[in-house]
Amino acid sequence: MVVIIVGGQWGDEGKGKIVSYLCLHDKPDIIARAGVGPNAGHTVTYKGKKYGVRLAPSGFVYEKARLLIGAGVLINPEVLLKEIEELGLEKRIGVDYRCGVIEEKHIKEDISSVHLSRRIGSTGTGCGPANMERAKRTLKLAKEIKELEPYLTDVPLEINQSISQGKKIFIEGSQGFGLSLYYGTYPYVTSKDTTAGTAAVDVGVGPRKVKEVIVVFKSFPSRVGSGPFPTEISREEAEKLGIVEYGTVTGRRRRTGLFDFELAKYATMINSASQVAITCMDYIDKNCRGVKSYDKLSDKAKEFVEKVEKELSTPVTLISTGPDIEDIIDLREEKL
Ligand code: GTP
Ligand code: IMP
Ligand code: MG
Repeated sequence: MVVIIVGGQWGDEGKGKIVSYLCLHDKPDIIARAGVGPNAGHTVTYKGKKYGVRLAPSGFVYEKARLLIGAGVLINPEVLLKEIEELGLEKRIGVDYRCGVIEEKHIKEDISSVHLSRRIGSTGTGCGPANMERAKRTLKLAKEIKELEPYLTDVPLEINQSISQGKKIFIEGSQGFGLSLYYGTYPYVTSKDTTAGTAAVDVGVGPRKVKEVIVVFKSFPSRVGSGPFPTEISREEAEKLGIVEYGTVTGRRRRTGLFDFELAKYATMINSASQVAITCMDYIDKNCRGVKSYDKLSDKAKEFVEKVEKELSTPVTLISTGPDIEDIIDLREEKL
């Protein structure tokens, strides 16, 4: 059974938190990372420790799963090898031999290009220039990097064999709908599409094999870098609400806005979402922080959930009430 998890706004919706919870709870056989590359930073807070993973799947906290990185994803070997070592993933991580490789020259170009770094506000991680080279068909692939040899594999083959054996597979996207090269706020977007369809392609899974698509939305969306943000609020207003966030990769202050129902509806449609997850419910009402059952949410919070469900015509099955993996309300049994 294949489940895809993607972001519905401008990234940083808390996919890391949702995916890590789902993996610990549902115990998948495989967790595969899709998405752009190490421009992502997924925060996982577990047993009092905070991790910021850029390439390893956020579900690594569930120790029995095989971890895979799909061919569509760009890898920076240095970043990946460091994560493998720090998280002790040597025995269970696999990298598709066709993953694109980011080199120093791509990072330099990303940082020094006025267009990318100043106008678009890129993360400076080399993803844009590497994807440009990939389109030119001059990019190096993972199979050419000696240090990656022990991890190289055929990700689609592993996943599709597991699917035929009835196993559970989670596919984790990165960034969010508003940053999609095709459907986002072009040109203020990332270098690739970020929707569920592409996430499946990234890891070599065909459309007929996907059972569930969970789109993650933050109660107050954020955006880093330049670009339109129709529901943006001022820094002062955000601070009054107690919302101050910094990017995991770049350390830049995140812009904050109100929930944009129109954008969310459109993201739900293009992703063909079967479930919606809402994070940062504690931004709606402080009293919701750490709450673990729907009954204990305040009326204000419940009204928000009901409105999202009605507007998006999709069940809200997961509600995150704090950064820790355990701060969650899981309504899947009741609603599906
Ligand atoms: P990208 O792939 O980079 O888009 O990241 P992401 O979607 O995994 O999100 P990221 O971890 O960058 O940002 C989400 C932030 O919100 C992190 O600091 C999380 O710890 C935090 N977070 C997640 N869920 C909640 C929640 O319910 N409440 C609060 N207060 N914080 C949360
Ligand atoms: P790039 O992907 O580094 O080229 O950056 C392009 C745009 O996407 C910039 O506005 C970045 O801030 C944004 N972006 C890329 N990755 C992320 C992410 O993981 N979270 C939030 N924004 C991102
Ligand atoms: Mg992030």
